[in-house]
Amino acid sequence: MGRVLVTRQLPAGGLAPLAGHDLVAPKPDDVPYSSAEMLAMAGEVDAIVSLLTDTIDASLLEAGAAGRLQVVANVAVGYNNIDVAAASRVGIHVTNTPGVLDETTADTAFLLILAACRLAHDAEADLRANRWPGWGINQYLGLDVHGATLGIVGYGRIGRAVARRAAGFSMTVLHHSRRATGEPGYVADLDELLGRCDIVSLHTPLNAETTHLIDARRLALMAPHAVLVNTARGPVVDEAALAEALHSGRLFAAGIDVFEREPEVHPRLLSAPRAVLLPHIGSGSRATRLRMATIAADNVAAVLAGKPPLHPVHI
Ligand code: DGY
Repeated sequence: MGRVLVTRQLPAGGLAPLAGHDLVAPKPDDVPYSSAEMLAMAGEVDAIVSLLTDTIDASLLEAGAAGRLQVVANVAVGYNNIDVAAASRVGIHVTNTPGVLDETTADTAFLLILAACRLAHDAEADLRANRWPGWGINQYLGLDVHGATLGIVGYGRIGRAVARRAAGFSMTVLHHSRRATGEPGYVADLDELLGRCDIVSLHTPLNAETTHLIDARRLALMAPHAVLVNTARGPVVDEAALAEALHSGRLFAAGIDVFEREPEVHPRLLSAPRAVLLPHIGSGSRATRLRMATIAADNVAAVLAGKPPLHPVHI
């Protein structure tokens, strides 16, 4: 039996694989543990079940390794909140939840593609604020999604799930990734892909190479009628540059689920026209969030049983 810190409330039933273990529960009212509290507990638990909002840095991992910490199981596919290099240095396993959230996140990407292209947010806001004067032939003229050229940046599981949906909309799909896929539609040069697409959807992990991958220069390569969608990680896009591109009309529209400094959103982006902004709900269906929690718990259970983790993350 191990001692497991669960940093936040998880979907009911998600911790079932840890039955019999001693769970250090989240704080009342689901208030996050402070960094100091996490640091103090790190060496006194065998495992931490963390969320992407928890910063698991080198000092915490070193404190954990000096005690009994064996594994940090992130309830997310992304793990940029964890210093994986430090974990590997001190011999602590890090795990994530790949696979189970691909379809749900791809649904969200498509929701944003459709909503941004068709200006759904601005149109609905006008209607709710009694600003809609009645039907007009020139109102809210958007971009057709069907038949458009979609560029997918980052062609892993989620990017591919978006590509499958695009086929149903008769779209032409191009993709870019660090390594050549050898598949039809691969474009080796990101700059070229940006210039060829009507809609660009981002699906890269966040790391040093992808921070501000889409900056002012690259936004300027996109066509003025184009739409950018980000369900990956906020810092992949320079938020200030995106806001300016929308305000100036240099970019037609954007659909954004993730932000550079969550929960803050750049004020210029909040006030930008033709922007659909969601509060990081990419994987947010009941079934998927439960599966994510269960997988994290499965990973902890495996390590505490002396087995290899099921979904190890490597640097
Ligand atoms: C992840 O898993 O990385 C998402 O951002 C949250 O589901």
